[in-house]
Amino acid sequence: MKKPKVFVARILPEEGLNRVFEVCDAEVWQEDAPPPRDVLLEKVRGVDGLLSLLTDRIDGELLDAAGPNLKIVSNFAVGYDNIDVPAATERGVLVGNTPGVLTETTADLAFALLMAAARRLPEGMDFVRAGRWKTFQPTLLLGRDVYGASLGIVGMGQIGRALAKRAAGFDMKILYYDPFAPADSSLPAGAIRCATLDELLRRSDFVSLHVTLGPETRHLIDARALESMKPTAILINASRGPVVDPDALYEALQKGGIAGAALDVTEPEPLPAGHRLLTLRNCLVVPHIGSATYATRTRMAVMAAENLLAGVTGRVPPHPVNPEVLPRRR
Ligand code: DGY
Repeated sequence: MKKPKVFVARILPEEGLNRVFEVCDAEVWQEDAPPPRDVLLEKVRGVDGLLSLLTDRIDGELLDAAGPNLKIVSNFAVGYDNIDVPAATERGVLVGNTPGVLTETTADLAFALLMAAARRLPEGMDFVRAGRWKTFQPTLLLGRDVYGASLGIVGMGQIGRALAKRAAGFDMKILYYDPFAPADSSLPAGAIRCATLDELLRRSDFVSLHVTLGPETRHLIDARALESMKPTAILINASRGPVVDPDALYEALQKGGIAGAALDVTEPEPLPAGHRLLTLRNCLVVPHIGSATYATRTRMAVMAAENLLAGVTGRVPPHPVNPEVLPRRR
C-alpha cells in the first residue's frame, strides 16, 4: 500500500521522526533555518500531512499550494499563532498542537528568567569573564529580592498556574489578570485576581506574561502599560514576542521606567545581534528556549508525530485544535 506523503519542516528529536518514518514517505528539512517561503510552498505540494514549526507561516496560500490531499498540519508547539486556523478549517484540514507536555518546563524557564534578572546573573557572569572581579564589594551588582515579593501573572492558563506554584515556594504574593480563568483548585491559595491589567501592573514587583498571541494581546504591554509598572519592577516574557512592544520596552528600560526585563521571546524573532535591546545591561534575552529540555522536546516530537500520523491515516489526532473538522475532513 502506498505510504502517506508528508513534509517535516525541521529535524526533530529522533523518537518523533522515527515514528513518522515507520508509517510515512517523509521528507525532512535538514537545515537549522526554516525553509524559505517559496521552498515551503514547493515542498508541501501534494503532501498528505505537514509537520510545521512556529516559524513556518501556514495560511490559505500555503494550504492551497499543498492541494486537496492535505489532511493535517501538525504543529511542533502548543502555540499555533503561526497557523491561520480558520483557513485550515474552511478547507477541511485538521490542525494539531502539543499541549500539556511543556507546561512545567516552560514555567521552570520563566522562573529562571525571573531569578536571573532579579539577581543580575548575566551581568555577574560578564563581570567575571571580563576579569573585573578583584574583591568582595558591598555595593556590587545589587539586585531585587524574590522571596516575599509580588508576582503578577498575566494569563492564568496552565503555564501561569505552574509558575504560581513555583512562586508560592518563595512566599511570593501572587496576583493575576485573566478575564477568562476559572477560579478552581489549581489556583494557589491566596492568589489575588486583579480586575484590570493596570491594577496588576501597578501592584507587582515582577510581571510574567503567559497569554496566547492574538489581535487582542499584540502589544498588550505597550508604553502605557509599562508606565503603570513600578520603576523597580521586572518584566518576564516567555509567551510570544509581539505581546510586548519592543520600542516601548527599550524606552522604559533605558529611562528607568522599569528596572529590568527577561525575555525568552522577542519581536522580531530572532532578535538580530545588533538590536538596541541587546545594548541594555538590564535586558536579558534568551533564544526561545522555554520548552528546550531533552525530555520535553522529545515528548513534543512524539506528540506532534502522533497527531500527524493520526491525521494522515484517518484516525482522530490526540490533540486537534479544530475538532469541528473531524466530521467533514478530507
Ligand atoms: C510553544 O510550544 O508554543 C513554545 O513557544 C515552543 O515550545
